[in-house]
Amino acid sequence: MPTRDTMHKQTLLKRWLLGASLAALTASGASAATATRGDFGTLADGTKVEAVTLSNGAGMTARIMTLGATLQSLVVPDKAGRKEDVVLGYDTAREYLARPNYFGVSVGRYANRIAKGKFTLDGKSYALATNDGPNSLHGGLKGFDKRMWKIDSVTSGPDARVVLSYVSADGEEGFPGEMKVTATYTLTERNELKLEYRATTSKPTVVNLTNHAYFNLSGNDARDVMGNLVTLNADRFTPVDATLIPTGERRAVAGTPFDFRKPIAVGTRIRDARDQQIRYGRGYDHNYIVNGAAGTLRLAAVVEEPVSGRVMEVRVTAPGIQFYTGNFMDGTYFGKGQRAYRQGDAICLEPGTFPDAPNHPDFPSARLDPGKTYVNTMVYAFRTK
Ligand code: GLA
Repeated sequence: MPTRDTMHKQTLLKRWLLGASLAALTASGASAATATRGDFGTLADGTKVEAVTLSNGAGMTARIMTLGATLQSLVVPDKAGRKEDVVLGYDTAREYLARPNYFGVSVGRYANRIAKGKFTLDGKSYALATNDGPNSLHGGLKGFDKRMWKIDSVTSGPDARVVLSYVSADGEEGFPGEMKVTATYTLTERNELKLEYRATTSKPTVVNLTNHAYFNLSGNDARDVMGNLVTLNADRFTPVDATLIPTGERRAVAGTPFDFRKPIAVGTRIRDARDQQIRYGRGYDHNYIVNGAAGTLRLAAVVEEPVSGRVMEVRVTAPGIQFYTGNFMDGTYFGKGQRAYRQGDAICLEPGTFPDAPNHPDFPSARLDPGKTYVNTMVYAFRTK
């Protein structure tokens, strides 16, 4: 029988060994970025949900859950070092299904809208469920955001990473081809959260995968985003009709409330109802055409929250980015900490191809063929000012 004294000594020894190995890690220059896997409750039908927490040595933490490969929380330090959650969402997995609003989810197979839920591919017509007025939105009735993803791998330092995957059956939600998708979240020591979506298919199909994080950089202060200074690296955007389907035009932002080429507060022109596009969107809910060559990582957006000093830069490979100011939130979504979310409480920046691209031959193509790999990469980089 070990005496209390030997047990105490063993505990001290264990603590010392742990401390020594941590010190060795730090001395060898290896980073403290860690990825930890844990339970995240169950769905109403008993399905177990897991979450992976990525933490770096610079104060950032990202939690990703297997339901919808969702970014459930993102903790970022402010200019005083206060670490606070900067994305909207729910405390439990169940609420994501009970009151879905795409908070931080992975959206697919087709993010954003397809007009009337119809498109043709190689002469064949496809019909999708219409779940947004006359149109199909965000992959249909049960898109990738409402599916259970698998954790393929979890890796600690130098960068902390989780790879999740999902296999979408041929014909699921009306889309052709079995599609295999992965979502890779990587947290770096430089306070960047990198997210990469990849997909392959067994038959020609269409694809547009994105993440739908709702950012509120004020953290616990929970101010609305009207005072956020936004810069969008886009000379043009795609105007929409009354159902938010692009008309096909690529309109110059110059001289309109859509000009964010220089930093300007979101609220400055959001009520300018002389612009019909503001009326249609109830504010901003539009696809911007990101300047520069699609396929190369380039700056798409900067968001600065002046009080906390948090600044987020968004770099994308996608041709477009949907800028949405949470216009449909009406105080009936009760999020983390039982906070009611209202219109203008967040900014979404959803990198992807243009909405309704399958019905616009001159838009960047959403087509994916067997043997090819679809890749959509986005980086959310944080600093303070
Ligand atoms: C996208 C759309 C919006 C809205 C949200 C989810 O941003 O463009 O119109 O549907 O998703 O509520």
